[in-house]
Amino acid sequence: MSEPSLGAASAVVVGAGGAIGAALLAELRAGGQFAQCIGLSRRSEPALDLLDEAGIAACGHWLRAQTANAPIRRLWIATGSLHGSEGGPEKSWLQLNPAYLQQQFAINAIGPMLLMKHFFPLLPKSGEVRAAFLSAKVGSVGDNRLGGWYGYRAAKAALNQAVKTASIELTRANKASICVALHPGTVASRLSEPFHKAGLDLQTPQLAAERLIDMLEGLGAQQTGGFFAYDGAELPW
Ligand SMILES: NC(=O)c1ccc[n+]([C@@H]2O[C@H](COP(=O)([O-])OP(=O)(O)OC[C@H]3O[C@@H](n4cnc5c(N)ncnc54)[C@H](OP(=O)(O)O)[C@@H]3O)[C@@H](O)[C@H]2O)c1
Repeated sequence: MSEPSLGAASAVVVGAGGAIGAALLAELRAGGQFAQCIGLSRRSEPALDLLDEAGIAACGHWLRAQTANAPIRRLWIATGSLHGSEGGPEKSWLQLNPAYLQQQFAINAIGPMLLMKHFFPLLPKSGEVRAAFLSAKVGSVGDNRLGGWYGYRAAKAALNQAVKTASIELTRANKASICVALHPGTVASRLSEPFHKAGLDLQTPQLAAERLIDMLEGLGAQQTGGFFAYDGAELPW
């Protein structure tokens, strides 16, 4: 069956330099459904750094001009951080470190919220619009059985709340819009690499991207604001 036509539409991937982001961009390009597929990252031109709001705003202005004749109908936010300059995930409360916590919230929660602020006003007010933020199952409060990873868990939970909140505002602007948080599963990437162990069901970024795109395309507007896994399962908050 052929894909329904979106007309002249753009797809945008933020975090296009990451494993899943690059695979999403490649998959969207290969699908041939969009007039243009735009990847933004810290190394793109213009560059997008989640820690720099002025830069995000400048990317928004650039995107407005770039998509004037092909509105953004797919927006993927594939950025994220688990370990960085301030350390990695905590095993115990004894390891809680304000600098790491701030970095987690800045990259996993506040940055994506700034993308809502500067990119959501660019989304068309009618017709199909789908925005997906890569979250993580460990951000689920209801599913937390193991403990640990305070910063990453809490920052992803904050992201999930922001996605739900933005979905409500987006629906007021466009009843056909969908805005969701998606868990990609365990995927081979720089982010997951330190945690690979024998027996882990590790997906390639390409397989994860295919599954995520199928997942997003299969959702209806009544499912906006949800938190879903790559296999379609709805996750508890
Ligand atoms: N891999 C998994 O098993 C797994 C599981 C659950 C959830 N996730 C989620 O999936 C998403 C993608 O992760 P991934 O596995 O593809 O990891 P990845 O390859 O490390 O990609 C992470 C991306 O985030 C970008 N990023 C980090 N800090 C940034 C900043 N300050 N400004 C702009 N971009 C920034 C990185 O940009 P640079 O390329 O410039 O460094 C990179 O593109 C994340 O949200 C992650 O939490 C992944």
